[in-house]
Amino acid sequence: MILVFGGNGQLGRELARAGAAAGVPLVAMSRSEADIADAAAVRRALATHKPQLVVNAAAYTKVDLAETEVQAARQGNEIGPTLLAEACAELSLPLIHISTDYVFDGTKAGPYVESDPVAPTGSYGRSKAAGEAAVRAASLRHVIIRTAWVYGAFGNNFLKTMLRLAASRDELRVVADQRGCPTSTADLADAILSIAPRLIAGPDVWGTYHFAGSGVTTWHGFATRIVAAQAPLTGRNPRVTPITTAEYPTPARRPANSALDCEKFARVFGIRARPWEDETDRITRAVVGAQLGKAAHVA
Ligand SMILES: NC(=O)c1ccc[n+]([C@@H]2O[C@H](COP(=O)([O-])OP(=O)(O)OC[C@H]3O[C@@H](n4cnc5c(N)ncnc54)[C@H](OP(=O)(O)O)[C@@H]3O)[C@@H](O)[C@H]2O)c1
Repeated sequence: MILVFGGNGQLGRELARAGAAAGVPLVAMSRSEADIADAAAVRRALATHKPQLVVNAAAYTKVDLAETEVQAARQGNEIGPTLLAEACAELSLPLIHISTDYVFDGTKAGPYVESDPVAPTGSYGRSKAAGEAAVRAASLRHVIIRTAWVYGAFGNNFLKTMLRLAASRDELRVVADQRGCPTSTADLADAILSIAPRLIAGPDVWGTYHFAGSGVTTWHGFATRIVAAQAPLTGRNPRVTPITTAEYPTPARRPANSALDCEKFARVFGIRARPWEDETDRITRAVVGAQLGKAAHVA
């Protein structure tokens, strides 16, 4: 049985959906059911459900607000993962912990590999990097999966923001000088569920991995794809104008390049995410279809 913390987030909800679809015994606990920064709540959850594997999909994910809500970011991304990893280690339970491309500073020319040094540019990235370090220190039986630019059918994300703007504006101005790998929660959830039996069996695959949508684009490229995919369904076709980061100032500085090299994950587990374009088209159609009240099911 797999126990998921952060069960009400984008990834947590997708894991619950994918687990149910695949017949995998899985319980996803929301923050109100189990706060990972509450050691007693974590222990209670582990004692109640007696999982064979724990997935930490809980996180503080507000990248800009983290610049001012530094303590809240630490609570969700460092203190919580520390307590969770310690509790898992006490029970010799394998832990999958999700981290982010924003642990990197973006100055590398090509995609980042797992051994590249972390150098976060903001408070969110710093808290996530600290969380990774805490998980490594607390528990040997961990797999840290760094992912990126996460979107899906559940929760709030860039894709849904672009759909909302496309419905009401004739022009979308989107940053074209930050590169990364859009990752669907469906791909990530499928990958997690696929590697779960292997981790429960307990071979020496512990460590840090990158897993993100295949291919690299910019926020502008991502937005252009989303708008093109929704146009035939909505009849809306706004212009998507490339702008620079300097033209769209945000409280948090984001890496200019946070593309992730996912070869290690593919080599060890034999799994690669689908091309980001295909997943963007598929999820866009599913989300718009659901919004339009048409039959839409994210397979
Ligand atoms: N979103 C992205 O673009 C992105 C990119 C790279 C990596 N990631 C990583 O991917 C993972 C999943 O992200 P996501 O997009 O699914 O995030 P999300 O939609 O923001 O969901 C995170 C969930 O964690 C919950 N949570 C926060 N603090 C908690 C705590 N102390 N105890 C229990 N639950 C807590 C949140 O609950 P509340 O809403 O009640 O606070 C929320 O339901 C995270 O590790 C994130 O850092 C995300």
